[in-house]
Amino acid sequence: MTTINTAGDVEWGPHAARLAEELVAAGKLTDSRLAAAVRAVPRHVFVPTYHQQTADGSWVERVSVDDLAAVYANTALITTLAATATGGTTVLSSSTQPGLMTRMIEALHLADGARVLEIGTGTGYNAALLSHQLGHGQVYSVDVEGELVELASPRLAGLGYHPTLVVGDGAAGLPENAPFDAIIATCAVPAIPWAWIEQVRPGGVVLADLKSAPGAGSLVRLTRRDDDRAEGHFDATYAAFMDLRHTPGSNPDGFRVERDHNQAEHSTTRLDPTTPWTSLLVWFLASFDLGPDIAYGYTLPEGGLIPAYSDTAPAASWIATPDGSWAEITFATQNGQHGVAEDGPRRLWRLVEIAHSTWVDLGRPGWDSFGLTVTPEAHTLWFDRPEGEHTWHIASH
Ligand SMILES: C[S@@+](CC[C@H](N)C(=O)[O-])C[C@H]1O[C@@H](n2cnc3c(N)ncnc32)[C@H](O)[C@@H]1O
Repeated sequence: MTTINTAGDVEWGPHAARLAEELVAAGKLTDSRLAAAVRAVPRHVFVPTYHQQTADGSWVERVSVDDLAAVYANTALITTLAATATGGTTVLSSSTQPGLMTRMIEALHLADGARVLEIGTGTGYNAALLSHQLGHGQVYSVDVEGELVELASPRLAGLGYHPTLVVGDGAAGLPENAPFDAIIATCAVPAIPWAWIEQVRPGGVVLADLKSAPGAGSLVRLTRRDDDRAEGHFDATYAAFMDLRHTPGSNPDGFRVERDHNQAEHSTTRLDPTTPWTSLLVWFLASFDLGPDIAYGYTLPEGGLIPAYSDTAPAASWIATPDGSWAEITFATQNGQHGVAEDGPRRLWRLVEIAHSTWVDLGRPGWDSFGLTVTPEAHTLWFDRPEGEHTWHIASH
């Protein structure tokens, strides 16, 4: 088989077979055509090296053939880093967790002969799975990073797959190749581009990670109902993809709001400050009031910033918005109450508390109790059913 010849002389087949078995056992892979694709596509060809962050925050490069078991594990692998304007490091591309990929592909309900557009070619691994399942003539994939497409193209071709690859901003879709039976986005969008809805046939599916604010939202599967509407539920499991960028090479730097505790208003709350992160639906609901731009993080006991990779226990969590509003909530309690410091024009923690009580009043529902209706003019989030009594309007970007 071509894959053996072009994937070098490493014994990757048993690893791919074990990955397929693991995904089947975990209920993330049920379609036999897709299972065959997972067994047939050498992930290490698409991810020859990847980056891992160490405990001190630095990045090290791993060579995939040195540890094939790690590359054929059900984990995301970071493949492309770039420097930020402020001297930090940002992730530009990764190979998505294979089990998430297979769940998403299965959620498209692709019949034989279906035509699919992928937004976010990245390594090309997912395009290879789709090409194996559907035939490469049915697969289109676009990435904003020309260098990634240049790398993915020969990897795919070396294995005998020739999907249509395009460099560009996937937010516009690929009108010249429409209509598609499905569009799958492997990057997060603040709103579902109407172009995607227009480019699937009536009854076709758009599957994307809707993040109306940082961390706020998840995978939603929309079916095009008619000329002016697409609708569907969120997936039961939370997922987070990297954000769609309209220009290659960079991610926007976050904003900073100085938090001066001497100026702040102090109060208490019964709501655990981990709540928005342990119940991400609360964060999603809160984001409609907080707004699309939110910064958040943890505060070290002595008041410093705590990076994501640190294992130092934080003392408080904080949120801030560009209007200068911020709230900082202590993890420690006194008589069951957490301390809250807030300043700026809006009381941000109060907005999280309101979102929390809304969610509790609704019976603490999961993601799949919510759905989305998209029209050219608006995004409407609904609980239970589109015409139900609980709806929220998502600001269009
Ligand atoms: C998680 S990676 C995709 C993983 C990929 N499907 C794979 O199998 O390796 C997300 C990708 O989205 C791409 N991306 C970001 N903004 C984009 C845009 N506007 N249009 C197309 N692709 C975009 C990134 O460059 C990145 O490669």
